[in-house]
Parts: sequence; structure tokens; C-alpha cells
Amino acid sequence: MASKLVYVLNGPNLNRLGKREPEIYGSQTLDDIGAMLVERGEALGCEIEMRQSNHEGHLVDWLHEAQDEGAHAVLLNAGAYTHTSVALLDAIRSVSVPVIEVHLSNPHTREAFRHTSWVGQAAKGTIAGFGAQSYLLALEAAAEL
Ligand code: DQA
Repeated sequence: MASKLVYVLNGPNLNRLGKREPEIYGSQTLDDIGAMLVERGEALGCEIEMRQSNHEGHLVDWLHEAQDEGAHAVLLNAGAYTHTSVALLDAIRSVSVPVIEVHLSNPHTREAFRHTSWVGQAAKGTIAGFGAQSYLLALEAAAEL
């Protein structure tokens, strides 16, 4: 079976996972999550391309790249850009590759400014609130698309 290429794009401050507000985001690092995704991806026939940046434009560029590379799906945890970035909304709309919005926490149970998601307005679907498990659930959904 040919491997399905899945981009996993992570936005600002997610490089601090493990140290950053562990009571909200858990104790696993982004590398830990990447390793879990690679392992589950092998079972699901998915090749994982894991990226992180603190810069909005990198996420825009990588969404375009995912399309150009023929990716099967993108998992996107845009961090705080979720709630601010019309550029990411437009980038998702500019590609046809399905984008699944992912969050470790459930933004709807948190501050009001987290209740709006620009990303979610163009995403295929959203998985939030399950900690690191959110990424694995999103990968399983992606593999089925
Ligand atoms: C987050 C939720 C966002 O509101 C926040 O800005 C983050 C992380 C999450 O994974 O729970 O940086 O995307």
C-alpha cells in the first residue's frame, strides 16, 4: 500500500510543550507527539511530515507546500494564530488538501477570545480537548479520508 503523506503543522509556542502550562497542555513534548504520530502512522500507512514554527508566514508557506507535494491531509495546530489569522483561513481556502484543526486543550472551555477559530471556518473538521491524543485521533480521521 502506498504511503499517504500527512503534514502535521504546529504554530507558536508549541515548541515549549512539556514545559509550557503543563496543567493545560500536558507533560509530553512536541517530539514525543511526533514519535507517537510516526508510530501510529506506520500502522495506518501514513508518512508524517512534522513541522513547527513561531511565525505565521511559515505556516502559510507549509500549507501551500503540502498541496504542491500532493499531501493526503494536513493536521494543523495553529496555536494562538487559530484565533487571529485571516491569512491562515485564506491559505486553507487556497488549497484543496483537507486540513484538520487540532488542539490539545478545548478552546471553548477557556477564555472568550479562544472561542473564535478562523482556521475552523475552513477546516474539514476539528479535534480538541484530548491532549496529545487529539493528534492521534486527527491522524486516524485523516487516514480514513
Ligand atoms: C492550542 C489552543 C490555543 O488557544 C493556544 O493559543 C495554543 C494551543 C491547543 O493546542 O490547545 O497555543 O492550540
